[in-house]
Amino acid sequence: MEKKSQLSDEKLLQHPILLLMVLILGFIFMDPFHVGPLGGRDYRPVKHEVAPYDQVMGNWPRDNRSRLGSGKLVFVDEVYGPESLEFDLMGRGPYTGLADGRVVRWMGENAGWETFALVTPNWTEKLCANGVESTKSKQSKLEHQCGRPLGLRFNRNNGDLYIADAYYGLLVIGPEGGLATPLSTHVKGKPILFANDLDIHKNGSIFFTDTSKRYNRLNHFFILLEGEATGRLLRYDPTTRETHIVLNDLAFPNGVQLSKDQSFLLFTETTNCRLMRYWLEGLKTGTMEVVADLPGFPDNVRLNEKGQFWVAIDCCRTPAQEILSNNPWIKSFYFRLPLKMSFLAKLMGMEMYTVISLFNENGDILEVLEDQRGEVMKLVSEVKEVDGKLWIGTVAHNHIATLPYP
Ligand SMILES: *[C@@H]1O[C@H](CO)[C@@H](O)[C@H](O)[C@H]1NC(C)=O
Ligand SMILES: *[C@@H]1O[C@H](CO)[C@@H](O)[C@H](O)[C@H]1NC(C)=O
Ligand SMILES: *[C@@H]1O[C@H](CO)[C@@H](O)[C@H](O)[C@H]1NC(C)=O
Repeated sequence: MEKKSQLSDEKLLQHPILLLMVLILGFIFMDPFHVGPLGGRDYRPVKHEVAPYDQVMGNWPRDNRSRLGSGKLVFVDEVYGPESLEFDLMGRGPYTGLADGRVVRWMGENAGWETFALVTPNWTEKLCANGVESTKSKQSKLEHQCGRPLGLRFNRNNGDLYIADAYYGLLVIGPEGGLATPLSTHVKGKPILFANDLDIHKNGSIFFTDTSKRYNRLNHFFILLEGEATGRLLRYDPTTRETHIVLNDLAFPNGVQLSKDQSFLLFTETTNCRLMRYWLEGLKTGTMEVVADLPGFPDNVRLNEKGQFWVAIDCCRTPAQEILSNNPWIKSFYFRLPLKMSFLAKLMGMEMYTVISLFNENGDILEVLEDQRGEVMKLVSEVKEVDGKLWIGTVAHNHIATLPYP
């Protein structure tokens, strides 16, 4: 058998046009001049699990009234890429982490926004304070110096604020603010590359996500592109000050949220477009399961007072994405084409708009709000429900969105 196929391969290659095609394809594949969007990166696409497109999209309820479109943008050009939104024990806020590396808080009309915390002593106004420019790509190159605070959570017992910073790991800062103290920057002697979000267990343990062992936030697009699954769920134990690996091999683990009774936590796997559960108590302790397949790429998850979960989603997945996920060799080839990434993405039918969705503990969809035309909100990162209002953060734009709810 083997011999025969070898022979026919040889014969094929003797055909001049075929040979030329193979050479051209090989050339593109190798991308020796680094003209493709990967630019000579060590790019290793892998197969990953994403639920069938038709199954998910066929059952996903649409918000025909596009109700998110009636949301309001607030603090326009006053906050830069506010990913996570939090309120302190006195109800002040929002507090949020910005693309310029600061954690800031809103202190009311008179005092306005003030800097609350920094994640590194190296932060300087000269280098880092770039205002509305902070969400542009120029700042991404400064992030590793200035910091990029993502997930925020107050410890409801003592008013300490915990911060997951994409470059500086897990940190904590007291209620007075200032320079945050690093708690966890390494696991098993290796630096944490991309801390993303966190939640605080009643016994003091901090569960947080480390999105990838290979790519930092600046290069997060390659995590999606490869489908690589080196992300982790980690637990920092304040009594021993040790960081433990809870789950390995996750595909872009992102938001984390403990359930109301803390018997489980939910986290999102952005690459696989799904919401996952990890059991902390009961018969299934230590196991993981899919809670819901989502129409797009999820970011943070936040609990409301009723114990339900808001998920921020960048919609939508495409049929092409499913094919690519199952056939990494096509990805290898496709993204080496000497064309702009934005063009390649468009060709795949990717056009993003915002969906936010509310789930109960079983993963049933309770609510879907969309802004289908991207009029008000694009690239949302978190939805936080507080006193009849949704506060919506975005990692990429200079505003916060709000919407009365219910
Ligand atoms: C939205 O519109 C589609 C088609 O126009 C319809 O099939 C669907 O039932 C509508 N959904 C809701 C929730 O009204
Ligand atoms: C601050 O910057 C110096 C010089 O670039 C660097 O060596 C040091 O590691 C930085 N400190 C922190 C906490 O990032
Ligand atoms: C706190 O709870 C978590 C989750 O159940 C558990 O993994 C951890 O061991 C607990 N820590 C202590 C100090 O009991």
